[in-house]
Amino acid sequence: MTLQQNNREFEEFASDVARCLASKNKYLSPKYFYDKVGSQLFEQICLQPEYYLTRTEASILNKHAPLISKLAGSNIQIIELGSGSSSKTAILLSYLSSQKKRIYYFPIDISSSILTESERKLKLQFPNASIIGIRSDYDTGIDRATTECMATEEKNKKNKKNNNNISYTKLVLFLGSSIGNFELIEARTLLRSVREKLHTNDFLLIGFDLQKDESVLNAAYNDKAGMTAKFNLNLLARINRELGGNFELGKFEHYAFYSRERHRIEMHLVSKTDQQLYIGALGKTFALRKGESIHTENSYKYSLSQIGALAKDCGFTIERNFTDKKRWFDLALLSPS
Ligand code: AVI
Repeated sequence: MTLQQNNREFEEFASDVARCLASKNKYLSPKYFYDKVGSQLFEQICLQPEYYLTRTEASILNKHAPLISKLAGSNIQIIELGSGSSSKTAILLSYLSSQKKRIYYFPIDISSSILTESERKLKLQFPNASIIGIRSDYDTGIDRATTECMATEEKNKKNKKNNNNISYTKLVLFLGSSIGNFELIEARTLLRSVREKLHTNDFLLIGFDLQKDESVLNAAYNDKAGMTAKFNLNLLARINRELGGNFELGKFEHYAFYSRERHRIEMHLVSKTDQQLYIGALGKTFALRKGESIHTENSYKYSLSQIGALAKDCGFTIERNFTDKKRWFDLALLSPS
């Protein structure tokens, strides 16, 4: 990461924290969860028995990798938004490699540590694959990835040994129900901007967590081992580490619940007492009352008809909905309309 990038991100984090703590309804973007510690905690959440999302999506991928690959065509360049550990994508890559397909994979993630580690592991697992990690947010990341795709294609055309006529299909992955952490209006903006980068023969494979029994949802965000609570509280620890805050984590409670009206899990950090918080980087003190909350995340749960409407709104057609037997999770394969 360049010094400039570093400074920009520091300034953005500091000003978002200042705005959050000074406002009546305190809200901080969930993107700040994913520093090195937060990314590792998220990996732990994915292993919890109550957190069905990861293993359900993985089982869908395991079952349908052959059909997904077939629909996407024979020469695929895979771009992944928010790739994390890439463990689910490895299922698809394994299938492609078993079919002796050349793998081009461009994982995009905000966390450089997790990106470096997953690139290292994937290169061991798929020594012939071309893997180019892009440390970035989604918007810039997809631009850079599509440029990389074109550059790879050009390079292949110039290489006399290759068949010059090969044309590639881009398959953009947005897994793990990450779309659920966006407000509908933001989800539309993101999907429309992905749509703009795609040609008519490209695809978007996107994971949606489906609406289901509330008790399943509440358990998933209140796991018994307390991993989700740690993940939530790490946001305060990050403010302490990076902005010189003096949050005492024991004075906050993790609170996550399903809102039936809004079809979303809400996550909050609730103050257990009246307290004063000092943030060194801001040189400011903020007051928090007992019971007051910092809203840290929304995780929207979709119905299949809402997924269809969102896709249509953003210029996509649904090729296939791949769901599990319980209909808890949907992997939607979309193509530009
Ligand atoms: C990354 N995202 C899809 C997760 C979710 O389920 O909304 C983040 C998470 N928050 C708490 N547990 C997991």
